Amino acid sequence: MVITVPDLLTKDQLAEAKELLHSAEWVDGRVTAGHQSAMAKNNEQIPEGHPAAEKVGDMILRALGQNPMFLSSALPLRIFPPLFNRYSGGQTFGTHVDNAIRQIPGTPMRIRTDLSATLFFEDPDQYEVGELCVEDTYGVHRVKLPAGSMVVYPSTSLHHVTPVTAGTRLCSFFWIQSMIRDDSRRSLLFDMDRSIQRLNGELADHDAARKSVVELTGVYHNILRQWAEM
Ligand code: NI
Repeated sequence: MVITVPDLLTKDQLAEAKELLHSAEWVDGRVTAGHQSAMAKNNEQIPEGHPAAEKVGDMILRALGQNPMFLSSALPLRIFPPLFNRYSGGQTFGTHVDNAIRQIPGTPMRIRTDLSATLFFEDPDQYEVGELCVEDTYGVHRVKLPAGSMVVYPSTSLHHVTPVTAGTRLCSFFWIQSMIRDDSRRSLLFDMDRSIQRLNGELADHDAARKSVVELTGVYHNILRQWAEM
């Protein structure tokens, strides 16, 4: 399941974030790559723990915690502190798969990467190419979203970023450990939750139908109770 979360950040938040990120120092992106992906990776990153990265990272985490689309589709248990990268002058990231386990810097805590997220800071017309291409069983998803929007996809997917031939592609990326490890189970719960939310809105005035929605909501939570790992 590849999910788009539109408008995670507001225009004001984007402007503040970009100002902070532009003032930070950037280093070779291979610092956070595993051995195999280091060979494919050619971009720049802000070092982990940099004050600008932490400040914008906290803004992103707060926005995620209030975003129904993200919460319903990802069912997050832990979120890796957001990292930041940029591509320009033909830079690219060849096909790779993300590491399965990541240590959260400065803590003994590890996270299993069930989902990978990319949040875009520039509108698509601000740079040439630079698409995130995610391969799954349905083919290749080519993703390039408006500034402030985010894509979330299974970390099991092979993926790459096509060369940025003009302009600068600025993004945040991070990983999520979900309470529901299995992508197909998580998709089912997401579909069910969305249907219930829609029904709730449409049937608010019908007593009998409202009872059915309460029952359906019960089924949703009972499945979640069966499957959730914490
Ligand atoms: Ni990756």
